[in-house]
Amino acid sequence: MAAVDRRGPTSPISPTSPGSPTSTRRPRNSPRVGTGTATSAPGARRAPRAARRLAHRDGPPAPDSGVVITGGASGIGLASALALAQVGRPVAIWDRDGTAARRAATRCSEEYGVRAVGLTVDVTKTSTLKAAVRRSLAELGPIGGLVHSAGIGGPVPLTHIDDAAWDEVLDVNLRAGATVTRELHPALLDANPGSAIVYISSIEGWIGSPLLPAYCASKAGLLGLTRSACALLGPDGIRVNSVCPGAVDTPLIAPLLEIPGARDKLITRTPLGRLAQPEDVASVVRFLLSDEAAYVTGTSIVVDGGMTAIGPL
Ligand SMILES: NC(=O)c1ccc[n+]([C@@H]2O[C@H](COP(=O)([O-])OP(=O)(O)OC[C@H]3O[C@@H](n4cnc5c(N)ncnc54)[C@H](O)[C@@H]3O)[C@@H](O)[C@H]2O)c1
Repeated sequence: MAAVDRRGPTSPISPTSPGSPTSTRRPRNSPRVGTGTATSAPGARRAPRAARRLAHRDGPPAPDSGVVITGGASGIGLASALALAQVGRPVAIWDRDGTAARRAATRCSEEYGVRAVGLTVDVTKTSTLKAAVRRSLAELGPIGGLVHSAGIGGPVPLTHIDDAAWDEVLDVNLRAGATVTRELHPALLDANPGSAIVYISSIEGWIGSPLLPAYCASKAGLLGLTRSACALLGPDGIRVNSVCPGAVDTPLIAPLLEIPGARDKLITRTPLGRLAQPEDVASVVRFLLSDEAAYVTGTSIVVDGGMTAIGPL
C-alpha cells in the first residue's frame, strides 16, 4: 500500500509555495477532480481562494443565490423550496412531475416574490441534467445551493428483490445525488462564497429495515457521499451535509400510514409524540444552506422527534 502523508493539507510542514503561508494542498494550476466539465477548469471564473476566505471571515450576508431542489414538487422538497423562497432565495424545482413542479414554482414566486422555475426533470436521466442546469441558471442567475430530495421507497425484501427494483431505488436516491452534484459543481463554484449542498438521507441510513434493503443502502450511501463530497469540495468553501428525517407525513409514506394502527405505532415510538411535518425538515435544510451553518460540513442532522434516540423501531 502506498504511504499516506498524515500531516494533512494545512500542516506547517506540508509543502507550500515559497513565501505563501495561505497555500493549501492543491496547487492553483493542478487539475480539479471529477467535475467532467470545461467550466471546472483550474481557476475558471472564480475569485482567488484568499479573497473568498476573506469574504467568509468578514461575515458576508446570508447567501442570496439560487437553489436547485430535486423532488421539489412534493413533500420535503416542496417545503424546502417554500422555506428557501421565504428568505428570498430563488428556486429551481426539478421533478419528474413537471406539472407539480411548475405549480410549486408559481407558489414560491407568488407567495414570496422570488424568481422560481419548475422543470420536468427525471434525475436518473443523466444526459438531461446539463440542459436543466443551463435553464435554471438562465432563469435564476447564480446558483449556490442544491437540495437532493428526489427519492422513492420500493419496499421489497432482500430475498425477493430483482436487479431492476434495486437499480431503480439506488439510481434515484443515490446516483442522482452524485450526478446532480457533478453537473452543478461549476455553478456552485461561481456562486461562492456560501455555496452548500444538502442530501435528504433518512434515519434508515443509520438503522436497518427488513423490507427496505435498497432504500437503506441508498440512504447510507448518501451519508458516504456526503463525507466524500465534503472532503473534495471543502477546500473551495462548498459545504456538504445530509439530513436524516424520521417519519414525515408526506405522500411517500401514505401507503404505510394507511395500514391500520401504523400511524399510532410510529407516534408511540416518537418522544415528541407526533409525526414530522415536511416543514420540520425544511427548516433544517434551510439552516444548512445558510451562513448560520458556515462551519458545518461532512455531517448529518437527524430530524426524527427522538425516534432513534430511544431504541429499535
Ligand atoms: N417521508 C418520510 O417519512 C421520509 C423519511 C426519511 C427520508 N425521506 C426522504 O425525503 C425525500 C423526499 O421524500 P418525501 O417524503 O417528500 O416524498 P414525496 O413522494 O412527497 O416527494 C418525492 C418527490 O420526488 C420526486 N421524484 C421521484 N423520483 C424522481 C426522479 N427520478 N426524478 C425527479 N423527481 C423524482 C417525486 O415526483 C416527488 O415529487 C426522499 O429522498 C425520501 O427518501 C422521507
